[in-house]
Amino acid sequence: MVLSGRSSVVERQLPKLGVAGSNPVARFKILGMRNITTLLMFMLLACGGSKEEKKQTSEIKTEQIDLAKRGEELFKTKGCIACHYPNKERKEKLVGPGLRNIHKERSEEWLIAMITKPDSMLKYDEEAKKLLKEYGTPMPNQNVSLEEAKAIIEYIKKVSE
Ligand code: HEC
Repeated sequence: MVLSGRSSVVERQLPKLGVAGSNPVARFKILGMRNITTLLMFMLLACGGSKEEKKQTSEIKTEQIDLAKRGEELFKTKGCIACHYPNKERKEKLVGPGLRNIHKERSEEWLIAMITKPDSMLKYDEEAKKLLKEYGTPMPNQNVSLEEAKAIIEYIKKVSE
C-alpha cells in the first residue's frame, strides 16, 4: 500500500530528529504541520491505522455526496436540464447530447471550460466547434462559476454509475 511506503520515510526521519519513543503529541509538535500528508501519517501511526483510514474515506465520500447534491440543484436552476439528459448516453439527444459518462470521454479541464464559458469554447476550441456543427444550436453561457461546474460534474459522475 502507498501509505506504508510513506510511513517508512517518516519513521526513518524520526531518529534523526531525536524524537523516537517520545509520545505522539510531542512528536507532532516537533515536526510541526509540514504538510497534510505528514499530519495524516502521524494520525495513522498513532491510532493503528485502519480506523482513522476508514473515517477519512467516509468523510471524503460525504463531501462528494454533498457536492453531487448541489450539482443536481444547479443542473436544474442553471437550465442544463432543458437541453441535456444527465444520465443518458450521448446519442440520447435533447437539444444537446446526453451527458452520461462524459467525464470519461473529456478531461475535467475541458468540461469545466465548456460548462463555464461555452461561448468562447464554441469559437476557439476544435472539439467544441465539431459539436456545434453536429448539433446546430450553440450552448448558451449560463453564468456558471468554476466551483459550480465542479459540483455539476460530480453530479454527472454520480448519475453515470
Ligand atoms: C439551450 C440548450 C443548452 C443549455 C441550456 C445547456 N447546454 Fe450544454 N450543450 C448544448 C448543445 C447544443 C451542445 C453541443 C455543442 C453546441 O452545439 O453548442 C452542448 C454541449 C455540452 C457539453 C459537451 C458535451 C460533449 O459531447 O462533449 C457539456 C459538458 C454540456 N453541454 C454541459 C452543460 C451544462 C452543465 C449546462 C448547464 C450549466 C448546459 N450544458 C446547458 C445545449 C445546451
